Amino acid sequence: MKVTVVGAGNVGATCANVLAHREIANEIVLLDIKEGYAEGKALDIWETSPINLYDSRTIGSTNDYTKTAGSDVVVITSGIPRKPGMSRDDLIATNAGIVKSVAENVVKHSPKAKLICVSNPLDVMTYATYLTAKKDSREVFGMAGILDTARYRSFLAMELNCSPKDIQAVLMGGHGDTMVPLPRYTTVSGIPVTELISEERLTAIVDRTKTGGGEIVNLLGTSAYYAPGAAAAQMVEAIVRDQKRIFPVCAMLNGEYGMKGIYLGVPVKLGKNGIEEIIELKLNDAEMKLLQESAEHVRDVMKALDAMNLF
Ligand code: LAC
Repeated sequence: MKVTVVGAGNVGATCANVLAHREIANEIVLLDIKEGYAEGKALDIWETSPINLYDSRTIGSTNDYTKTAGSDVVVITSGIPRKPGMSRDDLIATNAGIVKSVAENVVKHSPKAKLICVSNPLDVMTYATYLTAKKDSREVFGMAGILDTARYRSFLAMELNCSPKDIQAVLMGGHGDTMVPLPRYTTVSGIPVTELISEERLTAIVDRTKTGGGEIVNLLGTSAYYAPGAAAAQMVEAIVRDQKRIFPVCAMLNGEYGMKGIYLGVPVKLGKNGIEEIIELKLNDAEMKLLQESAEHVRDVMKALDAMNLF
């Protein structure tokens, strides 16, 4: 299996490192436009192989897409990250053009690859990747829900002083402050979380989750990368190992949840064919309203993309 990660910045390099360390693919290409940067990161990762005891190859490339040819999965992390005070949507003017040019090159050399977009603003950059790639929407999707759910689960584990392994949860909607964590679908080893945590504390945890990306930006002065990189790698693993895992993923809706022509976070089954199924939860009225509000926000950002006349 061959996997390409475009963008050797913090998120891309972390993703490549996890893919190599866990031997998720035997060939991992890291590509960046900055001269020598991807080669340096790829070599540094490869030099961990005798320590971490794996044999996945990591290869760096300065913008030479021929090295990415025939990839099974491509992760697109290109673009600039947020600085304190910025929303993810503020990045669209810079990142839309970058993502379009990357997706064009990727598809030219790996027409069969499943494409995972990680660039922000996530839902709309995934849509831009889809418009550029002209592939089946089941093969073009975005990473956000695994990250956002991981934040939610990690906060719940801290609150309960229990293992994060035992917390199952689903979260829907756009990758922004309108995301919709779903306490009704959150359990701790099968026990509904509402039986273990007060409503007040749960609301505080849900609110912290929604602004979890911003919390890291304020601490670091740039956006998160360990959790986003690991989350993208988990999606790659589900595809290359045909695991049929059920995760929240940013997927094109074609009537599911009463919506069409929009990329939004929903639970899906992820396997070798990409999105093999979109799972429709029986949301109650309040949950559905939150999902619709989140979708409206994503549609506003889609309008900003349309106004750029790139497609
Ligand atoms: C975050 C950025 C990567 O949520 O969107 O950390």
